[in-house]
Amino acid sequence: MTALAALPPDREMEFAFSESDHRAIADMVYAESGILLPESKAKLIYGRLARRLRACGLTNFPDYLAMIERDAAEKARAVDALTTNHTSFFRENHHFEHFREHLWPGFAQRLATGGRVRVWSAACSSGEEPYSLMMTIAGQDVRAAERLASQDFRLLATDLSPSVIATARAGRYPLDTTRAMPASMRQLWCRRVGDQDELHPALRATIAFRELNLLRSWPMKRPFDVIFCRNVMIYFDDATKTRLLSRFADQMVDGGTIFIGHAERIPPDVANRFRCIGRTAFQKVS
Ligand SMILES: C[S@@+](CC[C@H](N)C(=O)[O-])C[C@H]1O[C@@H](n2cnc3c(N)ncnc32)[C@H](O)[C@@H]1O
Repeated sequence: MTALAALPPDREMEFAFSESDHRAIADMVYAESGILLPESKAKLIYGRLARRLRACGLTNFPDYLAMIERDAAEKARAVDALTTNHTSFFRENHHFEHFREHLWPGFAQRLATGGRVRVWSAACSSGEEPYSLMMTIAGQDVRAAERLASQDFRLLATDLSPSVIATARAGRYPLDTTRAMPASMRQLWCRRVGDQDELHPALRATIAFRELNLLRSWPMKRPFDVIFCRNVMIYFDDATKTRLLSRFADQMVDGGTIFIGHAERIPPDVANRFRCIGRTAFQKVS
């Protein structure tokens, strides 16, 4: 352990946290997920992993690092603990509006004549993003959502983190979370269960939630018409973003659309594969 501390000693701190502890954790998380954890994140790492040390009955970070080297499940829990899962219903709503106005009319026609539509919410966190899309499509019409389940429409929603995928699948949210929905949507699509809101089964039936690490291989064979990959690439370096966007382009139909987060950009090395068609909305061109 180096003498330098990543976090200065503090009476509140239960465990020492050195620079080399920080580096080892950051290297492991980068290799596993692509997420960068620079020095400015030392406090976050400490706060989130101190809980894991306690849960494992350990008293120092080097022992925890040795443990995650031999225990793949604990390594996955460490990565899960270090992901930032912030999301909300109708976040960056202009993307859902773009989808409804420019994409859905053509898709609806295609579905009505027996055609196929595939959408992927990549890094969907606890599910607010794909559920918002379902509500955008169905509007105020429960039967429209039910009809989709009988057409060749699939909405795949994936995330690296098992804990958020479990929340997404359950479709139950604290009332503070569902308050972000327009009131009429909330009234129609939510049912109060104890101190939570449960989303309508017709919304849940159409979405396939899966654990999936964007850096690893993807089991999907068919191309997507639309990909939402919002507010995850912000944690990646340019090389990872370029590789990922190039794989997205390979996994999209010609002319398909990808939505990225408000603070994200397409790196120059892959820019020739996309054309900007709106605010952080891009079309695959090659
Ligand atoms: C800030 S949330 C964004 C959620 C949603 N897309 C939105 O914009 O509101 C970022 C999500 O990316 C996921 N993530 C991070 N690295 C990932 C990776 N390598 N593969 C898949 N998901 C990843 C995290 O688990 C987290 O849930």
